[in-house]
Amino acid sequence: MTERIDIRRSEDVVLVRQRVRALAVQSGLSLVDQTKVVTAASELARNTLDYGGGGTVDIEVVNGLRRGVRLVFEDQGPGIKDIDAAMRDGFTTGNGLGLGLGGAKRLCSEFSIESAVGKGTRVACSRWK
Ligand SMILES: Nc1ncnc2c1ncn2[C@@H]1O[C@H](COP(=O)(O)OP(=O)(O)OP(=O)(O)O)[C@@H](O)[C@H]1O
Ligand SMILES: [Mg+2]
Repeated sequence: MTERIDIRRSEDVVLVRQRVRALAVQSGLSLVDQTKVVTAASELARNTLDYGGGGTVDIEVVNGLRRGVRLVFEDQGPGIKDIDAAMRDGFTTGNGLGLGLGGAKRLCSEFSIESAVGKGTRVACSRWK
């Protein structure tokens, strides 16, 4: 079961947090793990909005060999020129602290990021039990 949420304005980031929390509960994640994945989702949704110009997130409860939640954020914004630089703590092209992507990676059990300049960005985060 996958749920898609459009991320177009700040209120959508709040909705993403709520739905990720609900599906994390449903998937049986511990309270600590729920909070980790909600925090990662919040950072990634914010980036999708602020830098990607909006996009979508697909939230999925995974109930196979691994159990937990999987999130895929996608936008068709400007993309990221240097992903290694963007992942580094303290790197920002905006007004943030530059901690969002590195923080999100640490909070996810699996994390991947793909981006193409002029095409967009895709970030996947899974949190497993
Ligand atoms: N979806 C995206 N599209 C384009 N660029 C992005 C995207 N997500 C992140 N970036 C780039 O990566 C940089 C680092 O992102 P990160 O979330 O780590 O920090 P930040 O958003 O600048 O600050 P913080 O998250 O701490 O408030 C951003 O400043 C931006 O240049
Ligand atoms: Mg950020």
